[in-house]
Amino acid sequence: MAVQISPSILSADFARLADEAAAVANADWLHVDVMDNHFVPNLTLGLPVVESLLKATDTPVDCHLMIEDPDRWAPAYAEAGAGSVTIHAEAAKAPVRTLRQIRAAGARAGFALNPATAVEPYEDLLGEIDMLLLMTVEPGFGGQRFLDVVLPKVRRARALIAARGGELWLQVDGGVSAETIERCAEAGADVFVAGSAVYGADDPARAIDHLRALAEKASPLT
Ligand code: DX5
Ligand code: ZN
Repeated sequence: MAVQISPSILSADFARLADEAAAVANADWLHVDVMDNHFVPNLTLGLPVVESLLKATDTPVDCHLMIEDPDRWAPAYAEAGAGSVTIHAEAAKAPVRTLRQIRAAGARAGFALNPATAVEPYEDLLGEIDMLLLMTVEPGFGGQRFLDVVLPKVRRARALIAARGGELWLQVDGGVSAETIERCAEAGADVFVAGSAVYGADDPARAIDHLRALAEKASPLT
């Protein structure tokens, strides 16, 4: 699987989202962090903004739902046209049903684990998902420091995925930058979310090219 870069618009200018999306036209995805101030202590945006963004960009939208009740809300993001919708293991009460609803609505189904959540209890769910997201910071804010403590879990997740066969993307999110992306790629991640490392750069598109080159060089998968 080729390396993919998904810049997080959490670090973009929310008043100029269409322009900020256009500034990263070389990205594979646009990562949209939906936060409800309950599952995480921060509030961002919801379905109406995602619907507007979908009209304003051709780049596929990767919705990361950090909300308390993903079972209720996730299918609507898929129906609206998001290419990928990710729910959190710690929040979902009926993950199998919700993941199936996301797929039935035509989106890729993502499943996210916080840094302290082990991957092994979810091994049997891997067939229900298209992407596993391993948080490499505690969710809620951009610009936090990368948590190396998650890297062994990235390795174990990649081994579980390889043992099953088939195609399942492994995404890392939080503190991913030119300093840390190679470690993530070496450990087996293939989809990289980067907020501050892209939108904090003078030239976001160049930052994406640089991150992609570093990850491709370090990845044992490509
Ligand atoms: C954090 C979000 C991330 C965030 C990443 O809860 O899920 O997507 O935007 O930002 P950086 O890359 O700055 O850590
Ligand atoms: Zn995110």
